[in-house]
Amino acid sequence: MNKLAIIGGGGWGTALACVLAQRFGTVSLWMHETDLAATVERTRVNQIFLAGITIPGNLRVTSSLETALHGADIVVSVMPSHVVRVVYTQLLPHLRPGTPLVSATKGLEAGTLERVSEVIRSVVGPAFPVAVLTGPTFAREVAEGKPTAVVAASHDFDLAQNLQQLFSGPSFRVYAGNDPVGAEIGGALKNVIAIGAGICDGLELGHNALAALITRGLAELTRLAVAAGGRPETMAGLAGLGDLVLTCTGDLSRNRQVGLKLARGSKLGEILGSTPMVAEGVKTTSVAIHLATRLNVELPIARQMHAVLNEGKSPADAIRELMSRALRPEAV
Ligand SMILES: NC(=O)c1ccc[n+]([C@@H]2O[C@H](COP(=O)([O-])OP(=O)(O)OC[C@H]3O[C@@H](n4cnc5c(N)ncnc54)[C@H](O)[C@@H]3O)[C@@H](O)[C@H]2O)c1
Repeated sequence: MNKLAIIGGGGWGTALACVLAQRFGTVSLWMHETDLAATVERTRVNQIFLAGITIPGNLRVTSSLETALHGADIVVSVMPSHVVRVVYTQLLPHLRPGTPLVSATKGLEAGTLERVSEVIRSVVGPAFPVAVLTGPTFAREVAEGKPTAVVAASHDFDLAQNLQQLFSGPSFRVYAGNDPVGAEIGGALKNVIAIGAGICDGLELGHNALAALITRGLAELTRLAVAAGGRPETMAGLAGLGDLVLTCTGDLSRNRQVGLKLARGSKLGEILGSTPMVAEGVKTTSVAIHLATRLNVELPIARQMHAVLNEGKSPADAIRELMSRALRPEAV
């Protein structure tokens, strides 16, 4: 394996390019923004999405999909979930059939309610092996070489194990998994719970509240994942609990920041308009609610987040409603 193509040069795509550049002869990084791609290629820093990190010499940055994908042995895609379908439609003509496609996007597609790997499969058809790469990963920490563990998951376990061998390095430890459904539902849903965690902290509700939210959030992730065909043990792993803990407690989480700011009185439009970076949890919340209805699953925290984000409910009322729901057994 000599060439890796990374499609999507936001914070996470750039960080992955930095850490995986040590593992491949050449890495190409495709960016949506033509001007930014040229600037990053010249200055060797992605000042907009990952300021202060110098990118390695064997990384080529381009805004041409054809150039990025030429000769690629593996493609990792890292664009926001709402553009996955359109970007894959554009890149399909430049892919060699059989090239492994690895999704590092976290989210669900509005309308179809599909997981990102399902969207990719529906665009590219059966000729490409597909995997997901997910887990507790703040882009900046990965780019700084801090120890990080992730999971590469695919229905094709051989592919997951190959990716494990190819991507693992001194600061980047990859576990192989065969439950991409659970891995993707975990990665998408934890962003919704993180908004709730930000609300808890923004309202200064204390550690008990946060611990309860994370735990009941894990129950929601697990219910939805299992109803979608995933396995409960995946949700106890890096893609579930691991990512949930990171996003709910770490201040680098944008979704947690959204909750913090909402609790302190900012309006959603102002919060989202203040940065070019995506907070996937905002879109994922509505999609998760629809998916839960389709699969006949209860997601009380996600429902309250939906009401706060889209129906003008106050964060304090949302927490009050969660605390006054009908009493129930803990398990199930
Ligand atoms: N940042 C992290 O720490 C992190 C970690 C793990 C997973 N992720 C996931 O990775 C995905 C990408 O997030 P990010 O943090 O790298 O992005 P980002 O928020 O840093 O940047 C936004 C990205 O969206 C791209 N973009 C905007 N409009 C586009 C369009 N029309 N077509 C193609 N691209 C467009 C921009 O070019 C940029 O790359 C998300 O699903 C996110 O949840 C992020």
